[in-house]
Amino acid sequence: MKIIKLKSYEEVSKHAGMIIASTITLKPNAVLGLATGSSPIGCYNFLIDAYNKGLIDFSKVTSVNLDEYRGLDGSHPQSYRYFMNKNLFSHINIDINNTYVPDGTLEDAFLACSQYEDLINSLDQIDVQLLGLGHDGHIGFNEPCSYFPDKTHCVNLTETTINANKRFFDDISQVPSQAYTMGIGTIMKAKKILVIVCGEDKAEILSKLINGKVHPEIPASILQFHHDVTIIADEAALKLTNI
Ligand code: F6R
Repeated sequence: MKIIKLKSYEEVSKHAGMIIASTITLKPNAVLGLATGSSPIGCYNFLIDAYNKGLIDFSKVTSVNLDEYRGLDGSHPQSYRYFMNKNLFSHINIDINNTYVPDGTLEDAFLACSQYEDLINSLDQIDVQLLGLGHDGHIGFNEPCSYFPDKTHCVNLTETTINANKRFFDDISQVPSQAYTMGIGTIMKAKKILVIVCGEDKAEILSKLINGKVHPEIPASILQFHHDVTIIADEAALKLTNI
């Protein structure tokens, strides 16, 4: 596990952006695994800026997102499809038909998840999977539980996650209680994994990810077993870790 400690969110975002940009430079038809949330926004801004400067061409890139709320369609401002269009896709020359997010409108959870897993398997291996880290150790929406879920599946969101996400909704009752998410096995199949972690509030969980036991109660701890993980974090997030 490679850990890169930087001073600020801006530096972290730039560094993550440069890794993704160089992946696309080396492989124009790269498959990117993307995330939503606050952590990747600065990285997406860096990529938009690089695109505007003519440094990156996204025309052959494919993307697959980690997760989507069950029940929200892509026009809902809190859906992850809407987030991706707003924060990245509508600003770059990616072919929108090559951008994939689980379909939150599919009521049949088994169908929605198996179709998404099949889709990922039909693509080339994900070249870089971007991740944020939940306060309870979740990655994607893989919440703490007694085992590591393998494939794309439907999850009941924990109270911690619902509380963390309520800031995006008018009130807590509107936060969906379920989501479709890539499984831990799906995520672990990526060639490279890039984790962005910033802020003192993530210090405790980040130290567990890096130094704790690998256990499904801390889903992100599984990353210790991946052969190519880079954690890019700010000083505040790394303050409980001896790095
Ligand atoms: C987002 C996702 C989540 C977030 C995590 C951290 O697609 O799957 O696992 O990465 O909740 O969220 P932020 O970055 O908002 O702290």
